[in-house]
Amino acid sequence: MRGTREKAEVAKQSLLRAIKGDLGSLAPEWERAFVAAPRHRFLPSLIWLDVKDRWVPCVREKEPGRWLEAAYANSPVVTQVNDGRPPGADGVWPSSSASAPSIVFRMLEMLDIHDGMRLLEIGTGSGWNAGLLAARLGGDRVTSVEVDRALAERARDVLAENGHGPLVVFADGAEGYSGRAPYDRIVSTCSVRRVPYAWVEQSRPGTVVLTPWDNPWFCYGLLRLVVAEDGTASGRFAPHSAFMLMRGQRSDIRLFRDLVRDEHRPDESFTGLSPWKVTTSDRSARFGVGLWLGDVWHAWDEDPEENGAEARLWLATTDASSGSWAAVDWDGKQKDRFRVRQYGPRRLWDETEAAYQRWRAAGDPGPERFGLTVTRDGQVPWIDRPPTGIGRATLV
Ligand SMILES: C[S@@+](CC[C@H](N)C(=O)[O-])C[C@H]1O[C@@H](n2cnc3c(N)ncnc32)[C@H](O)[C@@H]1O
Repeated sequence: MRGTREKAEVAKQSLLRAIKGDLGSLAPEWERAFVAAPRHRFLPSLIWLDVKDRWVPCVREKEPGRWLEAAYANSPVVTQVNDGRPPGADGVWPSSSASAPSIVFRMLEMLDIHDGMRLLEIGTGSGWNAGLLAARLGGDRVTSVEVDRALAERARDVLAENGHGPLVVFADGAEGYSGRAPYDRIVSTCSVRRVPYAWVEQSRPGTVVLTPWDNPWFCYGLLRLVVAEDGTASGRFAPHSAFMLMRGQRSDIRLFRDLVRDEHRPDESFTGLSPWKVTTSDRSARFGVGLWLGDVWHAWDEDPEENGAEARLWLATTDASSGSWAAVDWDGKQKDRFRVRQYGPRRLWDETEAAYQRWRAAGDPGPERFGLTVTRDGQVPWIDRPPTGIGRATLV
């Protein structure tokens, strides 16, 4: 019978091979960090596993084999649910996780870190990424901000116990952390819809800011910005992964609570564009359409309970107070004629169709052809290269 330590060693080596397989190779300094900050030491005793699309708890002391297997699988491990509150009527939903090891190391490689750099991480979570960074740069050069007090305190203790000493700050990462600015690198491990300008302000020219991307349409992509002398930051998306959204940028839309009313009289029309083309069938189309739409959310209703509608795509703005919504119905038969209803000051399906046509006209670009420029006044998406003279009018 193998001892726990031996099993952990075998699992670690197998994970290392999986990471190298995914990335093609791993720089020796990151391999050393992987050894110096073993992932299982950072995970709490209670983790949550995805079993047939349900989150089920797994406690280390009760199921040590299963727990260790999860710790060294090349997958995310959920370490907190429901922002630390007991699951209730809204079910169980992940609110913190140790990200999948391949994506952790992909991001570390994308950061292009050199000795002596000072780095800010947003989203300490389990502390594993901060531990890897501290093993690479030294704890005094790494600052990590976590919005959840319990997670921040736990990570601070675990990092100290393991001999890595980054500064862990309990605060909202949208503000960055001015106490140790300027930074040479800023990495977020929660996704953002709006890049906080504080991150740019706490950088220097040449600083790389790397963050997972989200928008209400499609949570996908890694955005790598470089800060310029003029106080803007620009960069491109890489086609990888989905992360949990930064607290403070979440939206909570419930159609019939917030938007749709019996007395609404929407405009009716028909469209030839299949609503599936912009929501499910093509990842690049979803990414481009979502990026241009900016604040538009969608959800499918597969059982609209209305004569003549077999499936319905709902659209709404995330700012429910603006009051715009749209519904696109499939009658269960026709593949090129869908009923459209639009209500409110914005015509959301018309905007979606225009974004789709723009994406087609650009040659069906994938996420890697898109980029974003961040200024003090907002952010503007672009294809291939940043526009010159970005002004207030073009910012979203
Ligand atoms: C994917 S997890 C982090 C993974 C972590 N780096 C690790 O190695 O375990 C994302 C984390 O971001 C945190 N977070 C969400 N919103 C935040 C905010 N506004 N400021 C700081 N942290 C935030 C969450 O609480 C969560 O712990």
